[in-house]
Amino acid sequence: MTSWFALLPALQTYDGSQTAPLFPPSASTVSGEVDALYAFLVGVSIFFSVLIFALVIGFTVRFRRRPGVHATPIEGSLPLELLWTLVPLAIAMVIFVWGAKVYFRTVRAPSDAMQIDVTGKQWMWKMQHPTGQREINDLHVPVGVPVKLRMISEDVIHSFYVPAFRIKRDVVPGRYSTTWFEATQPGEYHLFCAEYCGTKHSQMIGRVFALDPVEYQAWLAGAGAAETPREAGAKLFTSLRCDTCHNSQSGARGPDLAGRWGGKSVLRGGGSATFDADHVRESILNPGAKLALGYEPLMPSYSGQVGEEQLLALIAYIESLAAPQGAKEKP
Ligand code: CUA
Repeated sequence: MTSWFALLPALQTYDGSQTAPLFPPSASTVSGEVDALYAFLVGVSIFFSVLIFALVIGFTVRFRRRPGVHATPIEGSLPLELLWTLVPLAIAMVIFVWGAKVYFRTVRAPSDAMQIDVTGKQWMWKMQHPTGQREINDLHVPVGVPVKLRMISEDVIHSFYVPAFRIKRDVVPGRYSTTWFEATQPGEYHLFCAEYCGTKHSQMIGRVFALDPVEYQAWLAGAGAAETPREAGAKLFTSLRCDTCHNSQSGARGPDLAGRWGGKSVLRGGGSATFDADHVRESILNPGAKLALGYEPLMPSYSGQVGEEQLLALIAYIESLAAPQGAKEKP
């Protein structure tokens, strides 16, 4: 499916040290699908460009002004109208349905995906693995394992772009965005920031290393981890004294957070909110925004006290809190 692109010429980079192929390597489970759709769009564009230019030139010659020859204008033709309405409609629908299929595939991460936190800032990428290892501008991932990225920016809009995986997703301040990939080929791939974000935007680059799972384990062991995001979050939960209000005792001043993840939170004043990363983040920074039903607006804002990485740690901890024993379903 992708071998077609291998025929395209390669370009030399400015220093001549590396070749910059016109097409990046195809190294994820979706890259072949993205390329096939892209090839179709290019093919349709070329077909109609050639057709239109050929007709323009052909008619120009055929109906040029000559003595005794007159072109007869066509005034209304139902078959013609139907032809140039239905054919483009059919092509547009193919593009729409096919595009939507590929889009949903690239947007929805498999539920068993390994989650890595990504924090973008001017001008670097900070990554943290679920097992705690941290990296800056480098990302090591195992081949054959779906990897979901939970991403947020500390300042302006950035965009996480790995051409070889055909993924590009904006990383914005104030809310989480996610993307996912599953690398299929071991190797080293470019990571770019694809959103102009200031003076050193062009230097906000990195490398993704897709490793054999065994090598990935070896890398994890060598990279060392002080604590996992969940452990860091558990400590913060205590040190920020979240646990004085958010606990399971009756009459607690805040809702118990155990087992809430992924469910619906009923709000004071009506409506509900999905208990997810964005909701938890908002509730820490701006507790009054979506107050849980049955609780008073007592919680202070922690805006300015916790950074994005600490918020991610708190979220990892809250996400890990299992439902209380009584409410737990049998496995
Ligand atoms: Cu970050 Cu461009």
